[in-house]
Amino acid sequence: MTLAAIQAQETWNGARQWSSEGLIARDHEVVSSAIYRYTDIAFARGEGVFLYDFEGRRYYDMAAGIATMNVGHCHPRVVRAIAEQAQTLIHAAAHVGYMAPYVEMAETLRALMPAPLNEGKVMLLNSGSEAVESALKLARAATGRSMVLAFMDSFHGRPMGALAATGSNSGYRRALGALLNGVEHVPYPNCERCAFGHGPRTPQTCCGQWRTFIQTVLDKLVHPSDLAAIIVEPIAGEGGYIIPPDDFLPTLREICDRTGALLIVDEVQTGLGRTGKWFAVEHSGVVPDIIALGKAIGGGLPLGAIVARADVMNRWWPAAHGSTFGGNPIACRAGLESIAIMREENLVRNAVEVGTHLMQRFQEARAELPIIGSVRGRGLMIAVDLVTADGQPLPTERLKQVIKALGQHGVIMTKCGPSALRLAPALILTREQADEAASLTLQALQSVI
Ligand SMILES: Cc1ncc(COP(=O)(O)O)c(C=O)c1O
Repeated sequence: MTLAAIQAQETWNGARQWSSEGLIARDHEVVSSAIYRYTDIAFARGEGVFLYDFEGRRYYDMAAGIATMNVGHCHPRVVRAIAEQAQTLIHAAAHVGYMAPYVEMAETLRALMPAPLNEGKVMLLNSGSEAVESALKLARAATGRSMVLAFMDSFHGRPMGALAATGSNSGYRRALGALLNGVEHVPYPNCERCAFGHGPRTPQTCCGQWRTFIQTVLDKLVHPSDLAAIIVEPIAGEGGYIIPPDDFLPTLREICDRTGALLIVDEVQTGLGRTGKWFAVEHSGVVPDIIALGKAIGGGLPLGAIVARADVMNRWWPAAHGSTFGGNPIACRAGLESIAIMREENLVRNAVEVGTHLMQRFQEARAELPIIGSVRGRGLMIAVDLVTADGQPLPTERLKQVIKALGQHGVIMTKCGPSALRLAPALILTREQADEAASLTLQALQSVI
């Protein structure tokens, strides 16, 4: 059907009646082709763990707005908080004066932090990428140094500064030329696909060569006295939900302490309860100097943040950094309400219980579905790696087809790493819902092999 014909059909009695087909056709007409879509589904509305299209079809949303909608879609309390704030103050800008939701959000985030970050200072921003770029700027300003150590398999965002730290996919850098100077990448300890050729291992039997590699970079490329920061994800998210060995983060902490560099932990995806702690770094006992946050902290609205040790943040002078919308009152209220719900409903605990159950379901299914390779994760941050008949990682193009097929079976997922399904649902997911979503996923996998 032509676009004009679709538009004519959709206009009934002067009011627009959307259809999925019509919306997608109009989108293709005006929206940038740079946006890759995992599914061909048009979302009419969301409720709890479900999304619905314009024809009323229901989907389990295991993507949750890319690991963002922790309390589900359109939670009535979050909706009310947004409406009330919209009637009170929509925007005034933190650079112009003071706003209560901004201060409350800063206090709340700080209070969730491990000591001594719970006495640190906060700056609110708009997105995860902006938080990462802010953390990098702060580290350079606070240390007076310029070099940064980052990891392959890591994702920190797509604007040019955050992208310079990202190391998960050369496609993101394609045709861009030089990015931010001074970032060197070292391999993330990915024991399933060891960069040092040691075959499939586990974090417990890791070869540990990543340690030697970092030392080599410090010996040959980056003088320790020039190192401003190490930036790291506590679990590599986009890179494949890779869980590093237990001594990884403590070793990075030790290197930072030894060299005077700052440890930046990017909790944009892992943060706010998803892995069974408020912040994934807490599983290691390590306390970073700066934490970058985004995604879930805005309760579904755009919000990013950095929380830094007070003596680090205090190295920034007035107007050293800023953002017109950062800490927008409505985004702060939505985030605060979402955090309150998470606390009252014990959702961090639920992430562990339902996440463990879900992982077990997929692990058990491996016996009958050889397309399932490994299943890994923590809490409700789960990767189901798919393999070919001869046990090789499923080619990414094939994985993308599988994800489209999942949509037809009523389950929405994205990918992580080259060959894994990414499950990052709302933390309100119940055991029964997890079972149904898993059954639909397994049916879909059965239909594609
Ligand atoms: C770990 C991590 N850091 C940073 C970002 C960038 O966040 P945003 O897309 O909100 O800019 C992402 C996004 O997926 C992420 O997963």
